This record gives sequence, structure tokens and C-alpha cells, in this order.
Amino acid sequence: MFRSLLSLCLVAATLVAAGPCDLYASGGTPCVAAHSTTRALFSAYSKSLYQIKRGSDGKTANIAPLSAGGVANAAAQDSFCASTTCLITTIYDQSGRGNHLTKAPPGTANSGTDPDGFDNLAAADGAPVTLNGHKAYGVFIPPGTGYRNDATNGIATGDGTEGMYAVFDGGHFNNKCCFDYGNAEVKNNDPGNGHMEAIYFGTGGPGGAGTGPWVGADLENGLFPGNTRSKNNNSASLSSRFATAVLKGKPGAWALRGGNSASGGLKTFFSGARPAGGYNPMKLEGAIVLGVGGDNSNRGQGTFYEGVMTAGFPSDATENAVQANIVAAKYATTAIVSGPVVNVGSHISLRATTACCTNRFISHTAGTVNTQVVTSSSSAALRQAASWTVVKGLANGQCISLQSRDPSFAANSFIRFSSGKLLVNANDGSKQFKEDATFCPRIPLNGKGHSYRSWNHPARYFRHFNAVMYAASNGGRNDFDATKLFNDDASFTISNAFA
Ligand code: AHR
Repeated sequence: MFRSLLSLCLVAATLVAAGPCDLYASGGTPCVAAHSTTRALFSAYSKSLYQIKRGSDGKTANIAPLSAGGVANAAAQDSFCASTTCLITTIYDQSGRGNHLTKAPPGTANSGTDPDGFDNLAAADGAPVTLNGHKAYGVFIPPGTGYRNDATNGIATGDGTEGMYAVFDGGHFNNKCCFDYGNAEVKNNDPGNGHMEAIYFGTGGPGGAGTGPWVGADLENGLFPGNTRSKNNNSASLSSRFATAVLKGKPGAWALRGGNSASGGLKTFFSGARPAGGYNPMKLEGAIVLGVGGDNSNRGQGTFYEGVMTAGFPSDATENAVQANIVAAKYATTAIVSGPVVNVGSHISLRATTACCTNRFISHTAGTVNTQVVTSSSSAALRQAASWTVVKGLANGQCISLQSRDPSFAANSFIRFSSGKLLVNANDGSKQFKEDATFCPRIPLNGKGHSYRSWNHPARYFRHFNAVMYAASNGGRNDFDATKLFNDDASFTISNAFA
């Protein structure tokens, strides 16, 4: 009796200590790529998880787990990035094969908008979470952002066999092409059906039951929820805050699975034959994408916390053990705002803090958000244009939206992000509008007041430049992204509204 209890305890201890890649290895399908900014995916892994670069001086730092097999050292990031902005430059491969992810190069569908034509990098603090109570950061990927490796080692090619999983945010997605993680083309192009096999997450494909988002397979020129291009009613919406998506393929067959990363097991959404029409045999090329499609279609959005690719076709039992490991990691939400409280329902004006401009307030002229000199004796029209009501963030209740108090505009008009600019537009009720009009206050970059960053583009902050307001990315390609004066230009103090 004592002996069996002891061995039970030993098994339990081993299971707790094992990481997802230890479980895949025990199942005979080892990880050949393992990516996570939140935790080590092997119990013995203690090297760097990811690299960040800060806006103030361009220096980089590597972030490692707190201990072997543990959660990322978020405090090291917070200290390195204090009073500046930081981007994730590299997501290291923990498998030892060097399959690191760096910013995605231009493809035949899209070039990126970074100064070098590559895609944007993700903000390092865009997706804060906790794992077993320890803070960590995921990778919040807006449209135009992506990572890739075109020269990999050990990833399946041709009609090869592989498995993969990823943990995403079930509340961050869109219906555009393509928020993917997995196997793609080495030349960033679309040479035809069957040249990729990556997890797709969003509402862009035929989908399944409910309203999505769903897990699908991006097999090139098609986002498959099953073995046809039609809706798969057996595929459940994965709208839980943390969602596990699983894909595996081998000659002639493949499967899609998924579940809630915070509780319960995996459900098999599809398991069967390869789709007709050029997908059997597969012609895999072995690059790895994160956040973009094979030809760098980069209009998808989503959040990635961890994921791996394996050699071999993992058994359902191995994947079930990996899901149990993910649940035991206890992913949970945490605050995404910081700094002084901005009261919902208050009427405010926002004053610039750059030395040039401390008499200027965030205002608008015919819907273009700008800064103007405003005083209590300014015209009623100008005072109204510089006054805002704080409401709960339209896309995220932790953040805020700023509703115009200008009576010459529709009552439901808000400041919204639009291609880098800030506009005052009427709320059309769309998911896109709500996301574009949601901003998250954070500790001010220059220590004064607040900085406001875009919820759906967290590397972009309210910034005044030549008296016009932008959602600017520190060091980006536009003149208004200039690093000089960024911290001051992106910090605003709050006062009672002029009107
Ligand atoms: O299969 C969907 C997308 O189609 C792929 O990701 C991309 O390469 C192509 O545009």
C-alpha cells in the first residue's frame, strides 16, 4: 500500500515537473521547435526565452525563466523597459535546433511597414498574464506584425509527418488572413496548395459551430476546419480567454483538436483524410510562421503565449497530457492598465507635457485629432472640441474610450485609430471600430500624467507631432514615430474638461 502510494506521488511529481516537450519526447514525438515568451517548455530549460529591444537607446536584453522549467522573469523585462517602450525582437527556440523566430520578411502578398520592409515587431508588454501567480508576457500580434524562420532545422518537409500546438487568446482574433503558427514556405510566397500546414486561429475560414473563433489548418490557399472547404459543425468556438489549438499531419491523414487552456481536456474537431485538390501528398517546405500567412499575408491578429512543433505524429494521449500540463500552468488574466486612475464617467481635457507645448490640449479640427492652445476663455466651440467623456473601453473594459463632447459631432463619436492617425468618428458598432477606439492608460513614459496606448496596436501610443495627434510607434518608419521627444510627446496630464 505504502509502496503504491509512494509511486503514485513520484508519478505526480514527475508529471508536475515535466514540460510539454518532455511529454512529447516520452511519447516518441520530440519537439523540434518550442517557442514561448511565458515559460520554459522543457523541465530542464533555463536559457533565454526571448529577446527585447528598448526604444530609448536601442539596447537589447534576453529574458530567461525564473528557474529551470519555470515562468519567464517578467520583472527583468519591466526593469529594462522602465520609462521607455520595448519590442520583442526574437522568440528563441527552446528545442536546441536553433529554430528561432525573428520579424517576418516581406512576402509576395505583403511587405511589412517597418523601415526595412519587414513586418512590425510586437510590443513586449502587449499581453500581460500570470502563470501560477507569476506575471509573464505573451505576444500580442496586431495586423502588420509577424515572426518567421525560413531556414529551419528538423521541421517536416514534403509529405512529412508533424504535430503542433499553440496557446492563444480566445478573445483576440479577426477574420483576415492569416494569424498562423506552423509550417510554411521558405520563400515567403504561395507556390500552390499543400505547401503549408499551420494552425490558423480566427473567424477567417469556413469555421464551425457558434460564432468563433475557430481553429483551422492553413494548408495554403485554404483555411480548413475539416477535410473540405465547408463549415465543420463539429468544430467548437474556442472563445475561452486562453485557448489550446492542436494540428497534426502525416501522409494521407491529419487532425485538428482544441480546448480551453485553463480547464478541461481537448476535443477532436476533425480526424481523417487529407482534403482533395492538391493537398495529398503535401509539399511542405519547413519554414515556421507566427502571426502571418505563407506569403506574408499579414492582416490577421491574435495573441500567442506558447507553441511547439514536433517530429512525428503525436498520439491523442500525448496531446491530452500536454493539455493537462497547460491547464496546470494556470494561465490567468492580469491588469493591462497602470498608472493613475482615470475615472469612467469623468469629463476630461488632456494637456501635452512636452516643454514646447504645455499650453496645448488634445482637441480636434473637423475630426482630425490634434493639439490646440485652449484656455477657459477660448471659444465654446474650441473648448468643446478639447473635451472628452471617459467611458469603459469599447473593446476591453479594463481600458478606456474617449467620447467627444463636441455637440457638432454625433453623440456616439470617439477618438479612434486609423492607419496611424487619430480621428473622431461615430461608432458604427463594428468589432473593428470598438477595437480602434480602445486605449489603455499606462504609467507615463516621462513620469507626468499618463501615456495612452492603442489596445489593438499596443506598440502605438497617443503622440503629438507638429501639433497633430497620432498613434505612434517609437522608432517606426513615419516622421511622427521619431524617437526624439517620444516620451514627452506621448505623456499627457488630465484636468477637468473645458466643456
Ligand atoms: O491559405 C491561406 C493563405 O493563402 C496563405 O496563408 C497564404 O500564403 C495565401 O495567401
